[in-house]
Formats: sequence, C-alpha cells, structure tokens
Amino acid sequence: MPRKILVTSALPYANGAIHLGHLVEYIQTDIWVRFQKMQPRDRVAECWYVCADDTHGTPIMLRAEKDGVTPEALIGRVHGEHARDFAGFHVAFDNFHSTHSPETQAFCNTIYARLEKNGLIEKRTIEQYYDPVKQLFLPDRFIKGECPKCGAKDQYGDNCEACGAAYTPNELKNPYSAVSGARPELRDSDHYFFRLSDARCQGFLRRWTREPGRLQPEAANKMQEWLGGEGESRLTDWDISRDAPYFGFEIPGAPGKYFYVWLDAPIGYMGSFKNLCDRRGIDFDAWFRPDTETEMYHFIGKDILYFHALFWPAKLEHAGFRTPSGVFAHGFLTVDGAKMSKSRGTFITAESYLETGLDPEWLRYYYAAKLNATMEDIDLNLEDFVARVNSDLIGKYVNIASRCAGFIGKKFGGRLAAAGAEWQKPLREASARIAEAYEQREFGRALREIMALADAANVFVNDKKPWELAKQAGREAELHAACSQAIEAFRLLTLYLKPVLPRVAGAVEAFLGIAPLTWDDVAAALPEGHAINAYSHLMTRIDSKRVAALVEANRESLAPAQAKKEETPEKKPETGTEIGTGAGTPASADAGGGTIGIEDFMKVELKVARIVDAGHVEGAERLVRLSLDIGEEKPRQVFAGIKSAYDPARLVGRMTVMVANLAPRKMRFGLSEGMILAASDPEGKTPGIFLLAPDSGAQPGMRVK
Ligand code: MSP
Ligand code: ZN
Repeated sequence: MPRKILVTSALPYANGAIHLGHLVEYIQTDIWVRFQKMQPRDRVAECWYVCADDTHGTPIMLRAEKDGVTPEALIGRVHGEHARDFAGFHVAFDNFHSTHSPETQAFCNTIYARLEKNGLIEKRTIEQYYDPVKQLFLPDRFIKGECPKCGAKDQYGDNCEACGAAYTPNELKNPYSAVSGARPELRDSDHYFFRLSDARCQGFLRRWTREPGRLQPEAANKMQEWLGGEGESRLTDWDISRDAPYFGFEIPGAPGKYFYVWLDAPIGYMGSFKNLCDRRGIDFDAWFRPDTETEMYHFIGKDILYFHALFWPAKLEHAGFRTPSGVFAHGFLTVDGAKMSKSRGTFITAESYLETGLDPEWLRYYYAAKLNATMEDIDLNLEDFVARVNSDLIGKYVNIASRCAGFIGKKFGGRLAAAGAEWQKPLREASARIAEAYEQREFGRALREIMALADAANVFVNDKKPWELAKQAGREAELHAACSQAIEAFRLLTLYLKPVLPRVAGAVEAFLGIAPLTWDDVAAALPEGHAINAYSHLMTRIDSKRVAALVEANRESLAPAQAKKEETPEKKPETGTEIGTGAGTPASADAGGGTIGIEDFMKVELKVARIVDAGHVEGAERLVRLSLDIGEEKPRQVFAGIKSAYDPARLVGRMTVMVANLAPRKMRFGLSEGMILAASDPEGKTPGIFLLAPDSGAQPGMRVK
C-alpha cells in the first residue's frame, strides 16, 4: 500500500529569532520531506510537512509586556519573521501555523475532556511561589536566590551555576522574584494534573517506547530508565495548569486556570494539520483515528524528548487518537567545537546569515553532510564549512556541467547525442542505496556516496578532455558523445542532491529543459536529440571573508544582549515539578518585514548629537568609543562598530543622530549609553558604513522624528 506520511518539526518559541541551531532541525526535516515527495505516488501517495509557532507561556507574556505590546501583536510579528527565515533557507512547510489558533484550542479541549472522562485528570492544591508585587505565580526560572549547597548568590530556582547542584525553588535561601525583585510568598493554588502515575499510562508507555521504530535505540533506553522496571511507578503526575495571568487557553470549566504551554504545544501539530486539511480537503480523522494506517513522524531536538516520547503519546493514546509512528531526535549544534556564543559571534541568526549574502544551500549541504540518525551533537566548523562546500559542490559537482555544457550549445546547437552509457551504470545502481540512506536519515552517508559518484564522473571528463577534443578537427562526434554523457551523469547527481539543494536542482531542471526530477527518473537517460538551454552559473564558491564577516556581524558588541536565562525555556525531564514555559532567545533587534504604527516609532527617541570625543577601544577590532553631546549635562558614551570606515580623529566635531532612549548596555569595555545611526548595504555590494548627519543648523539635543 502506498504510504501516507505526516511530518513535523518542533514548534519554535514565538519570542526569539531563528538561529543556526534551530536550522539543524528544520533543514534535516525538510530534506527528509523533500526526499519523500520525490517518490512516485505508488510508493508515497502523500507527504505533508507541518509546523507552527509555539506562542504561549509566561516568558512570552512578560516579553510582550516589556516591549509594550500585546502578546498577540508580539506573536504576530515573530510569525512573520520566522516564516521569512524558513523560506530563506528553502524550508518548505505545507503549513506554518500558530498554537494560538482555534484549531489548537479545540483539540486541547477535546483531549482534556477525554482524559478527564477517563479519570486521568486530578485537581490538587499545591504550594507555589507567588510574586506579590507582580501578582503572578512564578515559574522556577523566575525565582532566584542563594544556592542551598554552596551559598552562591543570584542562582536560579532549579540549579546552581556555581556548583551544579540541582534543587527545587523552595530550597533556595533568600529567594527573590527575577521579575520584580520582591520576596516571593508561598501560596496555595488549585492545579490540574495529568495522572501519568496511573497504571494505564505506565503500562502503555512501557510498551509503546519499546515498539520497533518508535524511538531511536539510545532514546528508548533513556525512556526505560525514566520509566523504571515492570511494576515500578517512577513517573509522577504532570502539572498541566497555570494560574492567571497567563497567555494561553483557559481550561473549560475552570475560570482563571490555563493550560500549561507544554500541554498545548504538541497539540499545535494537530491544529496546524487540521488547518491544512480544511483548506486542502484532506480527511483529518482518517489520519488521527487510533487504527489509522497513515504514518506520523516528529523531528525534534534531544532536549525535548521527554515531552514527545512520554507525555505526548500518553495524551494521544488516552484521548482516543493515534500515536506517533516515530520520534526522531537529533543532537545540538556546536560552532567550532563550542556552544554557540554571542561574545564569540557564533550565535548566528538565520536572518544575519542571509543578509551577509551567504547561500542557504551551502549550509543545507554542510548540515546534511554531517547529519545521521543518532542524537549526537553536530559541529559547524567554519573553516571546514568553506573547504567542504567549495571542494564538493563547486569542485566536484558543478564542475561537471560547467566543463561540458558550453560545447553542446556552441558546437551542436544545444542538442545532445545519445547520453546514456555503460560507464554510468554505477551511478544508476546507487539509486536504491542512496534512497535507503535518505530514508534512514543517514544523510552524511548519502552524500558521501553521491560525491564518490561525482568523482567517477569527473574521472570520465578528465579522461575525455572535451576542451582538447574541441580543438581537434574530425573529433566532433567524440566530443558530442562525451559532453552528452557527462551531462547525463550531472542530471543523475542533481536528482540525488535535489532533497538537499532544491534551488540548484530547479535551476538545473530549467537548464536541461526537463520536468521536475522525481526518484524514478534515474531509469531513463536523456534521449538523443534532446535540447538543453544555455548553461548559466549554478553556484558560487564561498569566500572565507564572508564567513568572517558573518561572525563579526553576530558578535556581542553589536548584537542584542545575551539571552537572559529567565527568558530561556527549561526543558528538564522531571514530571510533577514546573517544566519550562515560553521563551527561547530574545527576538532579534531588527523587526524585519511587517509594519509598525506611528506610536511604535515615536517610542524611539532620536536626537541630534555632536561627537565631542572619539577614540580607539583597546582589544576591539571594530569599535570606536564616542562621547556624544545631546544637550544633557554630561556627554553620553557610546561604542559604535564603525572603525572599519572611520578614523576616530576625523570624527570629532561631526554631528550625527543617536537613539537616546536605548537601555544602556554593559560591555567588556564599559557602559554603552545609546546608539548612533549609520547606513550599510546588507548585500555587501557597496561596502562601507555611512554615518547619518543632519543638515547644518541642527543643534545637539534636537529631537529627530
Ligand atoms: N517550543 C518548544 C518545542 C515545542 S514542540 C511541540 C521548543 N522551542 S525552541 O525554539 O527552543 O526549539 C525548537 C527546536 O529547535 C527544538 O527541537 C530544539 O531542540 C531545536 N534547537 C534549538 N536550539 C538548537 C541547537 N543549538 N541545536 C540543534 N537544535 C536546537 O523547544
Ligand atoms: Zn551552588
């Protein structure tokens, strides 16, 4: 029976920019989906890829408050940015929805009602820290205090960064609220629990996690550890409610109580798919009834395995829905062997990568080359990135076409001779092995195989030397055959690379004048007499200077401040305790697409400034220290990344424009109390930085609007 496959990637938090870490997952999933979509319909009848923004929780609520916007406005803006970034990297969801949607809410209510009817929901009174100033129950991450073990100050409510101890917030000494600074009070509140400790849940999960294909071996082992042995009951009940004020869905019949963000987040997969079904006439129930023959796979990071391998299947099973066919967890991205870091400039946003003019398919190729089916971390080594892409994609793959295509156009009117040949046999026979590697998510293996075939094709071209044949009279037929056969080999390689390089593949299809390549197009070679179009450049080499510029652009000195820990989610694997809430990283400083109202613009206080002093900053490659007179008692100190374009000595006395109400920021070199305005070309076509200046007559301190 032909397969029907529903695929998801984890839902990114709606208050942070997409970065290269996220992209490991979305690119991995997209490659797998594109591979499935290339299969003939009698093998894979349907494959749908859905995602959404994860929009609920305390961090998102507080972040919106801080930005002076409603949570709806915040998640609306971020949705646009996320959609833009994913499209920029050719991640082609069939639907990119939001958990803040009527579909997701309806499924939350249904699932909750069915769990309740099954006796799996229990109301209990618990004691929890409450911020009396902010009037808010505090998630663990928002409580700080002294470590109960080592006494280190300003530690978070779950673990100590000084000594590594783990504890509950109640054990902290001298606790205070990270939101208001107030001393939190323990208060009673009614909470709703999903009774995971129930024998039905434990029994089901013990079985489910062991079923073949559901989890990777290392994940299954971890789950067995968490579940304990037969008869043991290690899972504790899961707190699925939060008190108002909370940005989320109110629990039916429980005014003032909201579904915890991790309850509704995976239900967002269903919500997004339902929304797609309604638009495309797909029968949702056929995909989600317990006896469905359709498949559903979740691609996730290893940090959220617990939520997907335990809570999620337990919820679905006991609410009468199908469970996932498989959960595919991947490892974390490191850059040059270390965790992404803002101070090193390796916390790289998707947006900055594209704005620096780097080709998204370079990254897709590099990630694919490194990816396999395990949960091992993957490293983006920037030097290796440049070398690998240039040598494989340019030196091996593109090289075949660029050395042969011209002759077909110039000498043979763009028409091919017989293109199929015996020497291409290994290229065709590899099809099944490469397909198997893609299917198994062994992308690195698939690409090694493909590059070995590219090597063989290059050996053929090197032996034939079309550029020499072209100079010799009477060898036209040989030249024609060699180039035609090389082009056919190039077509096969393109087919194999298409899941990874969709844009290049599209350009090759146009160049070859063929229909979109599908997996079965391996069989038949391009026919004799087939007309191809003029060859134009498919991909450029990476210049390592560009990569250096990317790192510079992301270095903390100019990037938004380091993610504060209270804004990052906790995804720790205990039940019963507070598990995570909203936020990933803070949204990037620039809003990207969309529009803002005049009120938003008026919040930015722009003032005319006179540069009264300027100097070099010891140890900073790009920074200039400026003293700016804006009519205040004391000049403001600002660090600006303009050293490449301006000699400090020549800046003194100049007028410019500064943002006067930007929150001051502590930097390695001192406090920066604002920002000056300058123009630059994001494409880098016109290099340089151009400081803004008012017309003559403007005085320091004048408002610009
Ligand atoms: N909102 C939750 C997921 C809910 S799914 C129902 C969340 N969001 S996230 O924005 O923090 O992460 C989204 C996905 O990106 C997760 O699968 C996460 O593991 C992955 N990654 C985030 N940073 C990553 C790296 N540095 N490296 C690899 N993947 C990473 O979790
Ligand atoms: Zn400690």
